[in-house]
Amino acid sequence: MYKPIEQDFKISYQYKLHFTEGLFDVRNSLFRDIIRDYKDEPVKLLFVVDSGVSKAHPTLLSAIGSYCEKYKNLVHTESLVVQGGETSKNNEAYVTAILKAINDYAICRHSFVVAIGGGAVIDMVGFAAAIAHRGVKLIRIPTTVLSQNDSAVGVKNSVNYFGKKNFIGTFAPAYAIINDVNFLTTLEQRDWIAGISEALKVALIKDAVFFKYVEENAEKLRNRDMEAMQYTIYRCAEIHMDHIAQGGDPFESGSSRPLDFGHWSAHKLEQMTNYELRHGEAVAKGI
Ligand SMILES: NC(=O)c1ccc[n+]([C@@H]2O[C@H](COP(=O)([O-])OP(=O)(O)OC[C@H]3O[C@@H](n4cnc5c(N)ncnc54)[C@H](O)[C@@H]3O)[C@@H](O)[C@H]2O)c1
Repeated sequence: MYKPIEQDFKISYQYKLHFTEGLFDVRNSLFRDIIRDYKDEPVKLLFVVDSGVSKAHPTLLSAIGSYCEKYKNLVHTESLVVQGGETSKNNEAYVTAILKAINDYAICRHSFVVAIGGGAVIDMVGFAAAIAHRGVKLIRIPTTVLSQNDSAVGVKNSVNYFGKKNFIGTFAPAYAIINDVNFLTTLEQRDWIAGISEALKVALIKDAVFFKYVEENAEKLRNRDMEAMQYTIYRCAEIHMDHIAQGGDPFESGSSRPLDFGHWSAHKLEQMTNYELRHGEAVAKGI
């Protein structure tokens, strides 16, 4: 009998979470620089935008167009608008539409899909990008508190299937994540509040000092104090990313997943309420 053939290889991932304001203002070169750092030649970009974001920021699509016209290394193919919220993860037609656009515009593994939206749209677009050509590069531009402090800074993506939350998905780190504080100004109050539950969760399991900060600034946070929110997002994202890198199990193959504190019941509650309950609200109840 032949002996088993054994192999062992390791892959190292690096990705950055950037913070900015007015990302597609032509005077802000951050987005151009991120693409240019990848390749100093024209790069194709397919933008996919959450309908809730394009509605609340009516000049966004034209700003993206003008930005790509100004910076010649950015080759804008389309800005596809998809339904925001959990609907985007519940209907496979959205994944198909993105795969079709990737095919139509010949988006390859040296091009980028750029997802702009809440956690649901980012999850769904990330999944489509991860399965096209076995992985097209993804830039996430999260636009809610929850996606800026938690969901978009992680390594997972998914859609719901068979009526089950996150049934299909992959582990696929983004090329980069960009948090633009301006998006937060248009959030509904429930989305502003819901995202804080993930911050409370990481604070409870990882950082007593941060927990005290959230507790002492609860009133400010509720009243939409931007400085308090920016710090809360920053620290939450930092702890989350640190756990992924240093926790020893970035792709969650083991059974201990501390970041899932409050999440087992949360996912069930979301499903049972037909996704009327936001993820962050369900996590708060789960905790
Ligand atoms: N991949 C992960 O690791 C991970 C982690 C946590 C949560 N999630 C997922 O994230 C999703 C929840 O994300 P969410 O809390 O961001 O909610 P959401 O994506 O459902 O968005 C909520 C609503 O806000 C709208 N919206 C988004 N940005 C806006 C803006 N700037 N102004 C006005 N409206 C805006 C959306 O259109 C939507 O109607 C869930 O599907 C959850 O499973 C994923």
